[in-house]
Amino acid sequence: MAGKTISLFVVYAGFLVFANGMEEHCSLNTFDIAGNDMHFTKEVTNEEFALVGKFKGLHCCAKGYRSIEWYKDGKIYPWELDLSRMIIYPENANQTIYTYAIRPDDEGNYTCVLRNDTVMHSHTINLKVFDQIPDQLQMTYVSQNKQAYVGENVRLFCEAFAGVVDLPDQNSEAIWYKKLENGTLVELSDRFNQKKVIREDGQTYGTYLVIPKVRKDDYGVYRCQIEKPGTSIFRDVVLDEKSRVLNYINPNPFPLKEMVLCSIIIVLILTTFIVLINQYGLAFQVYMKDRFSTVEDNDGKTHDVMVAYAPKDSELALGVLVPTLEGRGYRCTTRELSADITNWSTELSGQIHVCRRVITLISPATVNDSWISSNLYQALKQLQTLDAAKLICVALKELPFSQNESKNSVGETLASLARSMNVIQWQRSSDESFWLRLCRELPPKRYCVTQSSQRPRLTSERSFDSLVVA
Ligand SMILES: *[C@@H]1O[C@H](CO)[C@@H](O)[C@H](O)[C@H]1NC(C)=O
Ligand SMILES: *[C@@H]1O[C@H](CO)[C@@H](O)[C@H](O)[C@H]1NC(C)=O
Ligand SMILES: *[C@@H]1O[C@H](CO)[C@@H](O)[C@H](O)[C@H]1NC(C)=O
Ligand SMILES: *[C@@H]1O[C@H](CO)[C@@H](O)[C@H](O)[C@H]1NC(C)=O
Repeated sequence: MAGKTISLFVVYAGFLVFANGMEEHCSLNTFDIAGNDMHFTKEVTNEEFALVGKFKGLHCCAKGYRSIEWYKDGKIYPWELDLSRMIIYPENANQTIYTYAIRPDDEGNYTCVLRNDTVMHSHTINLKVFDQIPDQLQMTYVSQNKQAYVGENVRLFCEAFAGVVDLPDQNSEAIWYKKLENGTLVELSDRFNQKKVIREDGQTYGTYLVIPKVRKDDYGVYRCQIEKPGTSIFRDVVLDEKSRVLNYINPNPFPLKEMVLCSIIIVLILTTFIVLINQYGLAFQVYMKDRFSTVEDNDGKTHDVMVAYAPKDSELALGVLVPTLEGRGYRCTTRELSADITNWSTELSGQIHVCRRVITLISPATVNDSWISSNLYQALKQLQTLDAAKLICVALKELPFSQNESKNSVGETLASLARSMNVIQWQRSSDESFWLRLCRELPPKRYCVTQSSQRPRLTSERSFDSLVVA
């Protein structure tokens, strides 16, 4: 009868331990985290220790998960008896596995895997089984170094396995100290909250340190010192101020993105503009001139244009140039140039008083078929003595510029002379741009004459191009 009572009492006591040590573990001392996102609800230990034959529980306290799975050394629960005696405690929503009497075979790595619909968290606990109480304390958990903002609440935790089945007393406890810079340990004031916890009937014990609303002078080193009769162990944890610099939003950030965008847009606009100018610039200039420049009609002159040419070029002067210009509304007159270049200025100077512009065709024929730079220089020099603003030279063949052309006594070359005068190069391939360049130099014409109605009267089937002596 007495034996039965004793065994009943033992069972009852076992239940008490069971109830206090395991059932409530995950509901006590949880983090103060709002919301229901999946996360661990308290510190999860990396190392756990047990004594052969004694009760042992392992915990992955969490919330927000859809499922928890347990693995031992990579093998999913349920386990063969020779792998582990641990069983899931479903009343605790599978956060806990336990056994009443642990064996050396139960040693190993236990992993819990939490899942919600999108994310998976896993945590591994290394369980070590002693066959007798170890001499040294075994650390099961100590907080990592932390950073916190001023005003934030901070919680540190440390815990160790002592193995003694006994309620901790003065000689078996964990205490937090502040460690000064010179190494002195000072006791923490009442503002700091130290909360002692025990598990599994006092085999494992530790202390939470809660620092409410961290102040500047709270930053520094904290030491957790854990003692049991005859031995002690300690760990230091550094609490640093979390800098707000990273979260500081510059009210006037350098607008790099906007500037790059702006530059690109400006470059695009400029490019477009340049392309348009290249394409339509001449036509635009001619249009603007005809539209807005002062007309010269009432200056008492009889003709807009006089075309001067060598006799050999008469066909293209009279057959192409004059008709085209007349088609564009210009009143034209013509004059043949003599073979003697030196006479030109006298020949033309009289005409220039009755004509608004003088167009001189420069071709090999005008320089006696000797298309060399000295002859052309001389010809242009002659023409230059006329009113430069009114003179237009049309070169039917490309002027013979050369890089190493020697300068004359006044430092002038054919190229520089040509640049200073109105010399328009006939270009075989782009008729229209030639006509536009020519028209740009002619007096403005307000009225618009369609070219198709007055086509140039070519006297032969040969085009202007073929008339040019190549
Ligand atoms: C899963 O948990 C993560 C946080 O651990 C959370 O961000 C996420 O929204 C959760 N997904 C669902 C579907 O609940
Ligand atoms: C707990 O584990 C059991 C057995 O593995 C499983 O059937 C059950 O769905 C689990 N419950 C949760 C909430 O994960
Ligand atoms: C448990 O994991 C640790 C570290 O990952 C490893 O060193 C150890 O061998 C593992 N133990 C077993 C029994 O697999
Ligand atoms: C360490 O510094 C504190 C104050 O800063 C002082 O009270 C204490 O005496 C110092 N301890 C030693 C060993 O220098």
